[in-house]
Amino acid sequence: MNKRNFTFIFSLILLNLILCVKVNTASTQEYILTNDDVDHSPKNIMVGSYFGGRSHLKPMLDVAAVLDERGHNIILITSGNYTPSSEYPTVKQVSFGPPVDIKKLKNVKNIIHKEFDFTRFTFMYDLALKTYNDTFVKYKNAAIENNVDLFLCHAMMNDACLDAAHALNKPVVGFLSYLNAIDLKTYKSDPMFRCNISLENESFLERFKCTVIQPLRMLNLVYNNSKKLNDLRNKMGVEQVFMSAMRLAKNSLVLIDSFFGFELPQTVPPNVQEIGPVLAKEYPPLTPELSDFINAHKRVLYVAFGTRFFTTTENNSKLLRSFIEAINRNMVDGVVWALSQTQKEDFNPTLTLSDGSQVQTSLILNNEHPHIHIAKFAPQFAVLNHTNTKLFFSHGGAGSTHESLFTGTPMLVLPLGGDQMGNAQKLELAGMALSANKMSLDVDDILNKIDFLLKDENVKKNSERMKFLARIGSKRKHRAADLIEYILYRNNLDKGSNKELREWIPASTRMGFIRGNNYDVYGAILGIALGLVGGILWFIIKSIRFVVKKISPPSNQKPKKE
Ligand SMILES: *[C@@H]1O[C@H](CO)[C@@H](O)[C@H](O)[C@H]1NC(C)=O
Ligand SMILES: *[C@@H]1O[C@H](CO)[C@@H](O)[C@H](O)[C@H]1NC(C)=O
Ligand SMILES: *[C@@H]1O[C@H](CO)[C@@H](O)[C@H](O)[C@H]1NC(C)=O
Ligand SMILES: *[C@@H]1O[C@H](CO)[C@@H](O)[C@H](O)[C@H]1NC(C)=O
Ligand SMILES: *[C@@H]1O[C@H](CO)[C@@H](O)[C@H](O)[C@H]1NC(C)=O
Ligand SMILES: *[C@@H]1O[C@H](CO)[C@@H](O)[C@H](O)[C@H]1NC(C)=O
Repeated sequence: MNKRNFTFIFSLILLNLILCVKVNTASTQEYILTNDDVDHSPKNIMVGSYFGGRSHLKPMLDVAAVLDERGHNIILITSGNYTPSSEYPTVKQVSFGPPVDIKKLKNVKNIIHKEFDFTRFTFMYDLALKTYNDTFVKYKNAAIENNVDLFLCHAMMNDACLDAAHALNKPVVGFLSYLNAIDLKTYKSDPMFRCNISLENESFLERFKCTVIQPLRMLNLVYNNSKKLNDLRNKMGVEQVFMSAMRLAKNSLVLIDSFFGFELPQTVPPNVQEIGPVLAKEYPPLTPELSDFINAHKRVLYVAFGTRFFTTTENNSKLLRSFIEAINRNMVDGVVWALSQTQKEDFNPTLTLSDGSQVQTSLILNNEHPHIHIAKFAPQFAVLNHTNTKLFFSHGGAGSTHESLFTGTPMLVLPLGGDQMGNAQKLELAGMALSANKMSLDVDDILNKIDFLLKDENVKKNSERMKFLARIGSKRKHRAADLIEYILYRNNLDKGSNKELREWIPASTRMGFIRGNNYDVYGAILGIALGLVGGILWFIIKSIRFVVKKISPPSNQKPKKE
């Protein structure tokens, strides 16, 4: 077929197609809707978190709220009385008893005042061990009493929840706010291990430390804890497992309240799905007082370090001093500080500014400074959502970080521990934040960073980019609810036998480490290659010897003498 012929036939076909479509649309005037509805028959879903705490529970409850709207019953079980449950009036609450008073635990001072790493988690392990028995029984009983069909468990330090679901043979969905805990990659680490979040540009030694030494140290810690926990499991008649997270990764759906862009990109198995950032449908509005203040200031710095933050008088005073100087140097024209645990007594009575002038702290704390607004609590989302709020000085907790990303507010982060250092690095890599060091707070350093973050064009651009990504990501809480409904549906289909999640679990998890990675095959190839190279070398050496022998006759050889 020549070229012209081909073009002719091709045009004919195209014309035909166009005509067909024309005729078709002409004949069907009314479209018929695709119906993507699925079964929503009401089920009972238990939401469980041992440590409770707003940052753990809030996103889980926001997903649960979607399920609630679809007609399912939600039962929340946690320690203490979760007050924001007033935001979720239809959620039934069961309590483990009094809340875990984090401030009373002796090691919390160490976490806040000292350099943080994973070894500081031991006290949390100990606490979880001490209460395992009791917690497990309460999860189990609450589940039986409420005829629970599915567990939605926070998957950090919450073995009792995961075990109760396993013991009752109920499907369980894990919930986490960062991927490292379930799917570790060789090119990622965490400041928790005194490593950078990304190992992309790290030296060989650094990567060796971060992928071999630190994980081995962590394993040692986990091993100790796991042995003790398995003794308890044994006594309670629960199946033993080295790490609950491993069973979860092998059998269950795991929802990650994060999104790529903030979280560093990586591959994830199909049963691990990112559905974040999860935000609530509604947030409390600004108080009239706060609304007046923010409306009257065009460039507001908002400061909040989370409900558990406390520090030394010296550091509090440094923070306050830097805010006053930021206003005096016209970097911002207003500051809102939600003090939370910090009391008025936690400041020096007078502050000396860099120009030598003195300021009475009490005046500021009593809100007599025209440009500084001090409050015990602030409706954080509404503050960040206001166009006049230009910068957020935060501890970098997951909840605050998500709200800042969603509203596109650049951040200065003062990470204290846990996942906060990692969040700070992720935000820095995203180009919308800088971080301060809690061990060496410095007024000039804070001021330089505030100035940079407010002026830099790239920071603005990156914040807008992250805002877009966070907003489309936040729609996925509906997807999270869809996925949970699918787990409920398939369990129902199998008459509650909680069958293995074969459709989403990669075969490699069943094949074991060596077969799953084809290491045996690569080993064989390496063996063959080495054999070949060895054979060739052997042949070359033999040939050379042969040639040498031929060239130099043996009679020339002289016996060696010393
Ligand atoms: C406060 O500052 C001092 C040094 O000035 C430091 O040792 C301490 O860890 C800091 N504490 C916090 C919570 O930032
Ligand atoms: C992490 O990266 C920074 C630069 O981004 C570098 O200065 C630092 O040495 C790296 N390593 C650690 C352990 O922080
Ligand atoms: C590593 O270095 C390259 C080249 O300078 C850069 O593009 C990349 O962003 C760096 N990665 C990290 C995580 O800092
Ligand atoms: C693990 O347990 C052993 C003995 O109980 C103890 O000597 C060791 O210090 C523990 N290791 C960690 C990392 O806690
Ligand atoms: C709770 O744990 C202890 C060990 O710490 C064990 O001896 C006891 O039997 C457990 N209680 C129940 C109800 O199994
Ligand atoms: C956030 O701002 C938008 C306008 O930008 C407004 O419609 C919305 O009500 C605000 N939400 C809150 C909680 O302040």
